[in-house]
Amino acid sequence: MTEAILLVGGYGTRLRPLTNHRPKPMLPLATLPITEHQLAMAAKVGIKRIVLATAYLSDVFTPYFGDGSKWGLEIKYALEKEPLGTAGAIRNAAELLSEGSEVVVLNGDVISSHDLSAQLELHRANSADITLHLTEVEDARAYGSVPTNSDGRVAAFLEKMDNPPTNNINAGCYIFESSVIDSIPKNQVVSVERETFPNLISQGGKIFGFIDHSYWLDIGTPKALLQGSTDLVKGIAASAALDRYKFAHRDQNYLSLSESISGDISGGSAIGGFCRLINCTVEGSIISDGVEAENCTIRNSFIEIGAKLPPNSTISNAFVDPDGEISEIFFAN
Ligand code: GTP
Repeated sequence: MTEAILLVGGYGTRLRPLTNHRPKPMLPLATLPITEHQLAMAAKVGIKRIVLATAYLSDVFTPYFGDGSKWGLEIKYALEKEPLGTAGAIRNAAELLSEGSEVVVLNGDVISSHDLSAQLELHRANSADITLHLTEVEDARAYGSVPTNSDGRVAAFLEKMDNPPTNNINAGCYIFESSVIDSIPKNQVVSVERETFPNLISQGGKIFGFIDHSYWLDIGTPKALLQGSTDLVKGIAASAALDRYKFAHRDQNYLSLSESISGDISGGSAIGGFCRLINCTVEGSIISDGVEAENCTIRNSFIEIGAKLPPNSTISNAFVDPDGEISEIFFAN
């Protein structure tokens, strides 16, 4: 049976200060942690056992996901004392898997509607060592690009460059043969992108690309976080995780787990549980659990758990921490 590893241990530096309080994979998209959307994606293809590869702020995962039974899954937790890099983390987490031959590995900061079953089928049909989901971006200069040969085999892993030969990039969902994971050195910092993949290509290993251009977003920056959340609420992106919940309000304007909401809420905003928003205007924002506000205007902003906003305040392009401290951050970047 296919098992999965979710890489959830990175520092998420590009998302600071949001990641000062919780790790990136636990930040809410349409009210639910990014990780929960990914678990739903894995469960959809019949994956039952999933190891969360944790390091930074590892303690926050277990109270939320427990043993996974609430989701019909068996969730285990691997811990790195210091982050071991993406490949080191996979090696460490694989100790908690059973003896299956293939493992799905997901970056913990991506939402994707790609066809994971078809990726698995392609992997088996090619008897591949690794099969990577590749997605096309408009401008690959900000990413490393991944050219493939006519048979779908990955030709190279190229660093960021001014004239990338393809707009296909690594989308952060891999199928690994277990034997490849076994060859990653134990307890060492190793990167899949910089070491494992390029080394395997130079040794003639069989790395294939699964090219799928359906909805995909890397939630690496504050702007992408807001976009991912509003896209899910507006129905531009889909997630089976949302279907498990009974929302107090759900349409394309906004999603809310709380009943006590009044005012004008729009732009795909998401409001967590136990919030009290009285006569507020909220546009394109993420409001975490337990937030209170009265006569406030909140635009393009992220409000952390339990923040109490001063009445009549206007918050725009800002992050509000749990103590109500406001930082202007760059949701435009
Ligand atoms: P930045 O610091 O903003 O680049 O974010 P990041 O730390 O999350 O790094 P990146 O976006 O490259 O990571 C991709 C995925 O791998 C994310 O889901 C990370 O949580 C995860 N990840 C990155 N490094 C490690 C690591 O050393 N250990 C584990 N367990 N996961 C990691």
